[in-house]
Amino acid sequence: MYKKMSELGIAIIGCGRVGRMRGKIASEFPGISWIGLCDSNEDIGKQLQQDINADYFTTDYAELIQRNEVDAVIVATSTWSHFEPALLTIENKKKLFIEKPLTLDATQSKFLISKIDQYDSDVCVGYTQRFRRKFISVKEKIQNFQIGDLSCAVTRTFMNKMGPMNELRLTQDRRFLTPMVISGTHSLDMSLWLINDTPKSVYAKSSDKILGELGTKDATFGIFTFDDKIWSMNISWALPKKWPGASYGLQMGFVGTKGVIDIEDTHRDIIIVSDYDQGKIYRPKGREVEDERFVDFLTSYPPGDIYANDLWGPMKDETFSWFQRICMGINTPHTNAHEAHRNLMYTLAMDLSAKLNKEIDLDISEDYIMDRLTLEL
Ligand SMILES: NC(=O)c1ccc[n+]([C@@H]2O[C@H](COP(=O)([O-])OP(=O)(O)OC[C@H]3O[C@@H](n4cnc5c(N)ncnc54)[C@H](O)[C@@H]3O)[C@@H](O)[C@H]2O)c1
Repeated sequence: MYKKMSELGIAIIGCGRVGRMRGKIASEFPGISWIGLCDSNEDIGKQLQQDINADYFTTDYAELIQRNEVDAVIVATSTWSHFEPALLTIENKKKLFIEKPLTLDATQSKFLISKIDQYDSDVCVGYTQRFRRKFISVKEKIQNFQIGDLSCAVTRTFMNKMGPMNELRLTQDRRFLTPMVISGTHSLDMSLWLINDTPKSVYAKSSDKILGELGTKDATFGIFTFDDKIWSMNISWALPKKWPGASYGLQMGFVGTKGVIDIEDTHRDIIIVSDYDQGKIYRPKGREVEDERFVDFLTSYPPGDIYANDLWGPMKDETFSWFQRICMGINTPHTNAHEAHRNLMYTLAMDLSAKLNKEIDLDISEDYIMDRLTLEL
């Protein structure tokens, strides 16, 4: 039996692309009675306040998190600035939803985990693709042994380079802005959610012919070894900007002792070709420089699709589910903080393996991996 819904006040820290989508969704959820916003960029934050009729805006996240009206916090700041607002939220015993990756530094992420355990906080992390119907149906089948014991798995991720180029242009510190840490983490999380086992080691290789001059890699391919199975985890995020997929195109395969599941998620089932530019949705204000796009794989934008100025799809389902979780205690398939920390460790381990050109034992410490990665840069 679920709790009767209680009304909650919510803070959204970071009012950019994702904070804006989550803020709009919050403004439409009946259980959210108060919305406070924060962005270090006052123009962006105030615009969102006006658009969703939010109750409060400040540029100071600490002041907002500590306000009495706030019961729960969404941290949707830039990829490299999750740690401080997340820590303050946990210490103030408020419910927390934080965008992926948890942080970029495994020692910081480990510290967050220790605080989460200390305060017994319920923290969810934004691995939005877990809310897609196709993956939920696969999870149910694998969990119920409909293909027996897994023997091997394959994950192939292709991404338009628009995504990484947008991310890279916002900071000069690109040491950990790698394809696996920033984007591959989504398909790694999905794969491990479905495999539901702990790998022992990884061996990976990277290439950097296309995006190397910007300080990142084009692709990282790795083999994870478990006690009794293997998994190939591959990503390239350097496809041409004209590639019709907005972001993620995924193919996954799971072979078990009693069957197989083959997943086609490249979005080539609905294609639009038009004399009109179809790429506008991927170019919010301030990012108008991208190429025009006249061919597009519909439904390839990971957060969802726009109809009548509203977003429909995984990010709406994920955010609504989190509200149901915190307002009513409903169980949801969100990624928890421990899983998000694991994801960060494994993505960094792939980068380290590629750098050292050797297999990495995954039973390594956060300090070791950060020291070696920094040393090898
Ligand atoms: N769940 C998903 O599917 C998904 C998709 C894309 C991005 N993301 C993640 O969401 C986060 C936000 O991405 P985005 O595309 O919205 O970025 P963005 O650059 O559009 O927005 C980030 C906003 O945070 C603000 N900000 C940064 N540091 C701040 C601070 N200390 N205090 C207050 N405001 C601060 C910036 O001014 C900016 O407006 C990133 O971590 C990204 O990796 C998740």
